Amino acid sequence: KKVLLINGPNLNMLGVREPGVYGTSSLSAIVQGLSELAEGLSVELESFQSNHEGEIIDKIHEAFGTKDGILINPGAFTHYSYAIRDALAAVQVPTVEVHLSNIHKREEFRHHSVIAPVVIGQICGLGPQGYELGLRALLSHM
Ligand code: DQA
Repeated sequence: KKVLLINGPNLNMLGVREPGVYGTSSLSAIVQGLSELAEGLSVELESFQSNHEGEIIDKIHEAFGTKDGILINPGAFTHYSYAIRDALAAVQVPTVEVHLSNIHKREEFRHHSVIAPVVIGQICGLGPQGYELGLRALLSHM
């Protein structure tokens, strides 16, 4: 099985970025841990991070017909990118949405996800473990 991991804007700054909110793990540490889990589950994991909406959309399009699942943390795009939502709806690749923080106990603008209606489910507030749970959830959905 082939899974695409997408991390959106500012997630390349994990580890130094608001550690009280996002924790002290770097993105590479999270991806490393997830890759090990993926290997154990016989999943081919491709990891992609971008701060650019269009690049994320292009990557989602590439997943059409080539990936069995997408695990995405869209960062702040979660709250307003209709274009990323439409891309996910277009390719119809089963997707799980992940957030490190509990978006529901933060600022009002983070409470709403425009991505949530086009994904299998959303995991938030569980830190890096959310990615692992998301990968497992994607697999059981396949
Ligand atoms: C985030 C939550 C978003 O509100 C925020 O803009 C992020 C990270 C999370 O993982 O908790 O960049 O998606």
